[in-house]
Amino acid sequence: MRRKLVIANRKMYGSIPDNQAFLKGLLHETCALKNLDCAVCVPYPYLYQAQTMLAGSSIAWGAQNMSCHEYGPYTGSVSPSMLLEFGCEYVIIGHSERRRRGYESDNSAAERFEAAIKVGLKPVFCVGETLEEHKAGYAHQVTIRELSAVIDHVGVMGLAQGVLAYEPIWAIGTGKSASPEHAQTVLAFLRGHIASLDESVAENIRILYGGSVRTANAKELFAMPDIDGGLIGSASLNTSDFIPICRAANAID
Ligand code: PGA
Repeated sequence: MRRKLVIANRKMYGSIPDNQAFLKGLLHETCALKNLDCAVCVPYPYLYQAQTMLAGSSIAWGAQNMSCHEYGPYTGSVSPSMLLEFGCEYVIIGHSERRRRGYESDNSAAERFEAAIKVGLKPVFCVGETLEEHKAGYAHQVTIRELSAVIDHVGVMGLAQGVLAYEPIWAIGTGKSASPEHAQTVLAFLRGHIASLDESVAENIRILYGGSVRTANAKELFAMPDIDGGLIGSASLNTSDFIPICRAANAID
């Protein structure tokens, strides 16, 4: 039985007082969220704040990207072990907002995945198709291509050390979530592909859905058998949107 996981992707939002209010509100809720793992991925400058406020609680934290290099002359980059120093458990890898701007290819995302698991970070690896690809019926081909880049790098046992997130690009930040049925079909397809390589990895790996998850659709999405939780962007900017989503995941048996 896979435990549900809800991750806040706070993107490039927040400020020290705003984060403080958000994390305080979330901490207040944690005792009510017993069936759920919850994590908050913040911009780098706020990792220390997240660590200071969340240490010792059941809420994990993480970053939204990292270098695949351990150290060196990479101005502006942050290494995996630096994230560990700030207590990160998770790191988002291959988010479409980075891929789409050309910051990451399938291969560089796979290299980052590998670098993350090497130090014990859990990569949250994002895959998903554009609107054009969606309309042309290519969701399966695109997501499998992105996933295969990682499996080629680290093998299926390496994949097992991370979390997958299916985030159709057309659903991110648009208010137009994929239907629970569409998301379920893609997730079942991805899990089926993993099962063809290793059944136990497929059974245990958590696959999240992300893209306009809101209070209104969270329950239906999380009720799908292959959706193990959500990667939440816009609705993770304040507790009044985010906590009901966590409660919806927590309520699923
Ligand atoms: P959204 O973003 O919830 O605002 O659609 C999700 C994400 O980008 O991870």
